Order: sequence, then C-alpha cells, then structure tokens
Amino acid sequence: MPLKSYPEVLVGLDKADDAGVYQLTPEIALVQTIDVITPIVDDPFAFGQVAAANSLSDVYAMGGRPVTAMSFVGFPSGKMEIEILRLILEGAISKLDEAGCALVGGHSVKDDEIKFGLSVTGVIDPKNVLTKGGERPGDKLILTKPLGTGILNTALKGGQLNETETDAVISQMASLNKSAAEVMTALGAHASTDITGFGLVGHAAEMVTLGEVCFRLNWNKIPLMEGAERWAKAGLIPGGAYSNREYREDLLDIEMDLKEWMLDILFDPQTSGGLLIAAPGSVADEMLRRIRAAGCQTAAIIGEVVAEPKGRIIITE
Ligand code: CO
Ligand code: CO
Repeated sequence: MPLKSYPEVLVGLDKADDAGVYQLTPEIALVQTIDVITPIVDDPFAFGQVAAANSLSDVYAMGGRPVTAMSFVGFPSGKMEIEILRLILEGAISKLDEAGCALVGGHSVKDDEIKFGLSVTGVIDPKNVLTKGGERPGDKLILTKPLGTGILNTALKGGQLNETETDAVISQMASLNKSAAEVMTALGAHASTDITGFGLVGHAAEMVTLGEVCFRLNWNKIPLMEGAERWAKAGLIPGGAYSNREYREDLLDIEMDLKEWMLDILFDPQTSGGLLIAAPGSVADEMLRRIRAAGCQTAAIIGEVVAEPKGRIIITE
C-alpha cells in the first residue's frame, strides 16, 4: 500500500521495527507501539502484568523510555464478572508504575473472549534509536531473559506445572525489560530487539536481514528456563514454534549435533521475552555485568556478529 513519506518519521512501516519513531525536535522523538494479547494465565492480575510488560517491551527494545499508555480491552461483559477486568487493569497499572509510565486513557469493546493490551508512547533521543539493523561485525550478542515461555505455557495449559513452576514462568513474563534497556543505552549498544512470537531465531533473522550481517550463536551459552529442556523433550511444543521454524529454518547453518528439542527451543514463541542486544565488543562484558546486576541474573553473551555470510545464522556449540 502506498504511503506518503514524512521526513519526521525516523522508523516507519517501510522497515518494520519494534516500534515507530517520530522526531519532534532535534533532541526528542516519540516511540509508539501497540500490542494486545489473549489470556495466557488464569490469574487476571498476573495476566494484566504480563500484558503490560509485553506492551512496554517494544519501547524498551528501541532504547526508549515509556511515558504514557492507553489501554485496549475486549471483554465479554454480561457473561463475565466485571471484577475480573478490574484485576487485569490493576495488574497492568502495577507494571506501568514500575515503568514510570502514566495510564492516560483507553478504550473497551464487548468481545466473546478477553483481550487486553496497551498502546504505549515513549520518548527517545533521535540520535540513539536502536533499530534491528544497527549491529556491526565484532559486536557481541546479549540475551537478557532465558528461553522457554512458549513451551512452559504449553505445559501449564496441560496442567503439568506445580505452583512454584507456574509462579516462575509468570514472574519472568511479567518482568520488565526496563533495566536492561537503560544499561544498553547508557553503554552505547548498536542494535536491539525483543524476543517475542517469532522466537529467538525468528527475531535474530530480522536483524541479520536488515543489518546484512551474520550471527554466530553458541547453543551452550543460550540461557534456558528451568524445565524448558524437559518439556521440550516431552514434546510440549506450541504450534507457533513449528510455523516459526517453517518460515525461517532456511536461514540456519548448523555446525553442531543439534537435536530436535533444541531446534524447538530456538523457535519457541516467547511472551514478553528478553532483549537481544548487539553490544560493541569493547563494552559487551561490562554491559552484561551491569544487566545482571540490575536483576537479569541469567542474561548471557550468546554469540557474535560477523560480516559473512550475510543474512545467515550459524548455530554452533
Ligand atoms: Co518487538
Ligand atoms: Co510488538
């Protein structure tokens, strides 16, 4: 579809990124995104928290600071207690407060099933926008949260997780990418994206394509959630992992004995996943140290950016 081009649009639909960026002044640009999801957990407060963390994440992935949010609600009013909606909103507000982001409005529609999400606006220095294609050869790749939420949510839906395991999945999905984003912008990251529905490889694929570089990922360094390996081996794989794999498997060059369950984890769709950050080689260790100190204890350097072969992802030990 033909779009008129505006010089103020620094990041728009032509190079779809985590969020749109619109320059207001030489110092300030807006970062804008919307994300709406259906319930993944039974607890409405926890669902509100996860949905909010998920919506805020795309602003963090650009290196921005969220400032205002508007809620979108689809709710089966008449069929479901309004109390549930109140709890969802309370959960979302608890995360917005943590982010320092004001809820300034919203809209709701009657719907057969619950849907909830936020449209979030952030601010950013136009010179420090972290797009998906900014990485350069020599950069190290940092992943800030372990993989496995899709697989663990499948186990959860199947009634396989105990309370402790359930709480662990929820708290990971509800945790904000705020502190990691603050560290990466302070230390001059080159690029970043957040790992969501396309899985690690799916989102890495967008980066290598836009950046015209190659990622070498070290399987043994990739952090996994507790239980992810066990449930992946047991075959509790969400459908999205298969479609992600079908779409992007061609981009992979596998230089190790990679088992099926490992591939399933690499393509596992994440809900409110971590940031994948391209950090200049000279600051990567310090960036990782500070990201861990800020609360992402399992963050890790999982690979590096190399020049060739362009647009490929190499999986090695
Ligand atoms: Co994103
Ligand atoms: Co998004």
